[in-house]
Amino acid sequence: MEGSGHALWGGRFEDGLSPEMETLNRSLDVDWRLRRHDVRGSRAWARGLARAGLLSSEEAAEIDRGLVEVLRDLEAAGDPSRFTDEDIHTLVERLLTERIGAVGGRLHTGRSRNDQVSTDFKLWGRAAIDLLRGNLSSLIATMADRAREASGVVMPGYTHMQQAQPVTAGHWLLSRAWPLVRDMEHLGAVRVECDVLPLGSGAVAGCPFDIDRDALADDLGFSRVSENSMDGVADRDWAVRLLFGAAMTGVHLSQLAEDLVLFSSSEFGYVRLGDAFTTGSSLMPQKRNPDVAELTRGKSGRLVGNLTGALTMLKGLPTGYNRDLQEDKEAVFDSVDTLAVVLPAIRGAVAGMTIDPRRMGEALRAEVHATDLADYLVRRGVPFREAHHVVGELVRAAEGADKGLGGLTLDEMTAVHPAFAEDVFGVFDPVASVESRGVRGGTSGAALQTQLEALATALERA
Ligand code: ARG
Repeated sequence: MEGSGHALWGGRFEDGLSPEMETLNRSLDVDWRLRRHDVRGSRAWARGLARAGLLSSEEAAEIDRGLVEVLRDLEAAGDPSRFTDEDIHTLVERLLTERIGAVGGRLHTGRSRNDQVSTDFKLWGRAAIDLLRGNLSSLIATMADRAREASGVVMPGYTHMQQAQPVTAGHWLLSRAWPLVRDMEHLGAVRVECDVLPLGSGAVAGCPFDIDRDALADDLGFSRVSENSMDGVADRDWAVRLLFGAAMTGVHLSQLAEDLVLFSSSEFGYVRLGDAFTTGSSLMPQKRNPDVAELTRGKSGRLVGNLTGALTMLKGLPTGYNRDLQEDKEAVFDSVDTLAVVLPAIRGAVAGMTIDPRRMGEALRAEVHATDLADYLVRRGVPFREAHHVVGELVRAAEGADKGLGGLTLDEMTAVHPAFAEDVFGVFDPVASVESRGVRGGTSGAALQTQLEALATALERA
């Protein structure tokens, strides 16, 4: 262990921290992963100080060189367990001063860890958002490919988990893809929000020296600078919106996962997950468990929990920076890590699953055409409400005769309403049913083509 007692703020204290407090205080194990961003921010800050005349160009160059070496040392160390420093900012500054001597002590001029950590976190956040958007985009593209293949496969569409109307398997898959497109759009908006530089806010009141914050923003690739230093150090809204995006994505994935669990069961058999994404049982030789879907569904819980935790941490915080804010990072790191594991796995499962058109077709009950039957009457001039009632009577009659709706004869139908004719039996064709819904957003093959094009465009813009 090295570095104990190297706090940056020791000047006015007589005694060191108690071990209990050190443990509570320490965030290095969490913010270790900000090291590259911390060094990057510090190098930009040194250039800013030099531009403002607070560092000579020699001093700035020395600090810059020192920071590069510090980063190399940190990478060589591999993990934070050797260091007892409070956080990554303290550690970097200590190592810098050890390397280049007293000039290292000039780096923190006009800066606070409050604006520093906000900046580091956002630098990390931009890359994390890009990563998640990339993962989402591949999953959506895979779902679109599978939907295109399954554009002619008819299956029951469900409401209340009861067979409702025939749809295509492609339409079902895309119904699970659009929510993910919205998640990508949301993350795009979070990216914009994250693109505001807090550095230069100081601890709370702003930097007292003539730092060019726009130049600093340029240097670090931010499009804007924060307009209020008090807000600049306390704002974690982007992080919460990222957590919301992750939680919403998790909920969407849990719904897709639930479909896969259900549809891959022997009772449904609509899909079969590939060997690479299912597990066996240590006891029951016949098992083929959809663990990929169950883990995806299960992990949505922690994504929601991270969001709830962060909102609760922020609620009621008084003005300015408060140390509670240190709790922000663990939740965000965890949500991003979780999705970075889940998204590629579920993408692989969707890419490798087999869709079984036969099982889907066999599952269709004739009753799934009840609405088509009512629509048939509507096309013959019967008001829909009356048609609905008539078909209801037919369903009851069929049940009474212990047969399906498809088993009724024309006589049995005309007995209930005279508008039925010989062509009524065409209504019981699932393909015809699906094809009749050619409205934009409907389940026909042509509408699915339009939908796929719209999805590709939305994906490009998201
Ligand atoms: N380690 C802190 C964080 O992760 C930053 C430290 C700011 N501390 C302070 N007492 N002002 O947010």
